[in-house]
Amino acid sequence: MNKIRKYLRSIKKLPKTLDVYRSKPAAKYPFDITIECSGTCNLRCKHCIFSEYMKRGKGIIKFEDFKKLFDKLDLKSIELINFAGYGEPLINPEIAKIVRYVGTRNKKINKYLVTNAVLLNKEMSRKLILVGLDEIYISFDGATKKTYEKIRRGSRFELVLENIKDLIKLKKEMSSRKPKIIIYFTLMKDNISELAKMTELVDRLGIEIQILPLVIRRDKEDMDISLKGMSKENIRKHINEAIKKAKKLKNKKILAELEKIKKTGGMTEASGTWDNAPCYSPWTTCFITWDGEILPCCHFWDGQISYGNLFNGNFNELWNSKTARNFRKNCVKGKRNTLCARCGNQNSESYKKFCMITKILPVLKNFSDRSYK
Ligand SMILES: C[S@@+](CC[C@H](N)C(=O)[O-])C[C@H]1O[C@@H](n2cnc3c(N)ncnc32)[C@H](O)[C@@H]1O
Ligand code: SF4
Ligand code: SF4
Repeated sequence: MNKIRKYLRSIKKLPKTLDVYRSKPAAKYPFDITIECSGTCNLRCKHCIFSEYMKRGKGIIKFEDFKKLFDKLDLKSIELINFAGYGEPLINPEIAKIVRYVGTRNKKINKYLVTNAVLLNKEMSRKLILVGLDEIYISFDGATKKTYEKIRRGSRFELVLENIKDLIKLKKEMSSRKPKIIIYFTLMKDNISELAKMTELVDRLGIEIQILPLVIRRDKEDMDISLKGMSKENIRKHINEAIKKAKKLKNKKILAELEKIKKTGGMTEASGTWDNAPCYSPWTTCFITWDGEILPCCHFWDGQISYGNLFNGNFNELWNSKTARNFRKNCVKGKRNTLCARCGNQNSESYKKFCMITKILPVLKNFSDRSYK
């Protein structure tokens, strides 16, 4: 039964996959959308562009305004919605109302947010469970108080850990499988030595972890905190230590996550590795700021490229506006633009698959704007 469902799902995805393969400047509808519910924050994390560098206006989207934006979208096409951008979504006093609204409009959309969990007290957790949030990613970048608080400036280790434990407990009490809880751990020089300890902590809590590579956005500051200054042996040593721990704990999910970062040496960021690697995001996703600007993705944090403002326009027109089409055209030229070159996102695996298909059926090359090797 599961196999049939998986098969049907992949057939449903076919038009989207083909759109990505064709890579025409005008794209079909995105299926993964971020609407930034808060563009303001209660922390000033060491690695985050928000802390000192972000210039665009700060603020929060009101429920009525969220509705105005959301109601302009084609709900049948959207599969995922993220309520977090640059800023802390739980600062928005209407966040639960917003999540509920999306669920009432379309039950099938996967609703998730990323949070620093400072405001994730029992009341907030209860509300988020009740409104049917599907996934919650909690940014927790250290396994000890010292490291965590050095990175997450303004937060308190014990408070956030307690909040996570309370959410886990509440889910049990309320017999709710949702939201799925995943720890986000951004890998840096400061915290890589705590990977094994983090593995232990996450395993003990019975939740999942995703390890994010640091994206270098500021030349000096981010270089100082990235793994770049460390020797490869040292990086490998810490990752192997964590792998050993995950094996001992027989935690396959954490192990798989660690094996993934072992492959890249903990870095996909700004290393030059991905300069020319294909990225399909502009065909499938976009990032809408709290004040309505449609950006290609979160890496254009200051609106360096904007397709236009959704408050004043129609989504379909803006999604395929001249700016959007030009942006996509440049994406297929091979060379990434400056911000793209610093981003770790790449779809080399899908690209390889498309390349194989075009080898078997060379005629397909004629239907694509991308050059397949
Ligand atoms: C921008 S925050 C917004 C949500 C919320 N305020 C939080 O901290 O979870 C989303 C995620 O981006 C991560 N992040 C911030 N700066 C980053 C960088 N330079 N490279 C990689 N991830 C980064 C954060 O650690 C966090 O997990
Ligand atoms: S809490 Fe999130 S948005 Fe705020 S500074 Fe930290 S990483 Fe950035
Ligand atoms: S390469 Fe990165 S910055 Fe560029 S469009 Fe893709 S996800 Fe966005």
